[in-house]
Amino acid sequence: MAVLTVKDLCKTFGAGTARSNRVLDHISFDVSGQVFVAIVGPSGCGKSTLLNIISGVEDHTSGDVSVTRDGGGPARLGYVFQDPRLLPWRSVHRNMMYVQDSADEATRARVERYLDMVGLAAYGDYFPGQLSGGMQQRVGIARAFAVEPDLLIMDEPFSHLDAITARGLRAQLQAIWAQSRKTVVFVTHDVVEAVELSDRIIVLQPGGRIFEDIPIDLPRPRRQSDPAVAMLQAEVLARLERMTAAVTAPARSM
Ligand SMILES: Nc1ncnc2c1ncn2[C@@H]1O[C@H](COP(=O)(O)OP(=O)(O)OP(=O)(O)O)[C@@H](O)[C@H]1O
Ligand SMILES: [Mg+2]
Repeated sequence: MAVLTVKDLCKTFGAGTARSNRVLDHISFDVSGQVFVAIVGPSGCGKSTLLNIISGVEDHTSGDVSVTRDGGGPARLGYVFQDPRLLPWRSVHRNMMYVQDSADEATRARVERYLDMVGLAAYGDYFPGQLSGGMQQRVGIARAFAVEPDLLIMDEPFSHLDAITARGLRAQLQAIWAQSRKTVVFVTHDVVEAVELSDRIIVLQPGGRIFEDIPIDLPRPRRQSDPAVAMLQAEVLARLERMTAAVTAPARSM
């Protein structure tokens, strides 16, 4: 598990040029422990930029970001992206091993265990091109968990999948996460998905400010068929619609 601290974070692309674009505007939040946090917001509001800054891929303009292991020391990060990003010329097993520090017996056993958890134990020798998109995404999830990250970062991992496959993967993700004690930051524009999976939803508004930080206090495992889940989904969706209306209202009145 990890301790993530984001303080007064700002990001401007093209600062000082005619194309200057302030994408994140004084963002602050803390996450620690076995917590599943969703970051939700409309397209272009800076969700991926925020993840890229947290993971160190992108610089920030001002403010502070720190990720440490629970109990101190540098944190190990794992990633799952929208597309699985598997190397097509490597088998599933070799794709999983590629991101591991060691090829010892314990590592191989761990890789097999996570492949098994996503239901792909029999597919270790297959190549990505021989798997469906959903199966490839499951390999991507297993690969991220198998590096045993303190912080797992996921950027819309199910958005390219059909609704039924995505629902199955959300259930698997919940089950693996419950056993694995990791801190997860999960980006999605899908409020329904965010309520099903997370303990907390941070809503970003266009212009890159936090609009709301909503605790989701529902028992797990959560089922889409549970009326309490459906009610909270409708409520959070209504709040987001109000946000969108409030943010776009001045533009309409011009
Ligand atoms: N490398 C870059 N250079 C310049 N501008 C960028 C760069 N990356 C992102 N942006 C801009 O930052 C803004 C936020 O982009 P970002 O990808 O973070 O949005 P997002 O919330 O993840 O959207 P989506 O839901 O569509 O994935 C956009 O206006 C985008 O054009
Ligand atoms: Mg994005």
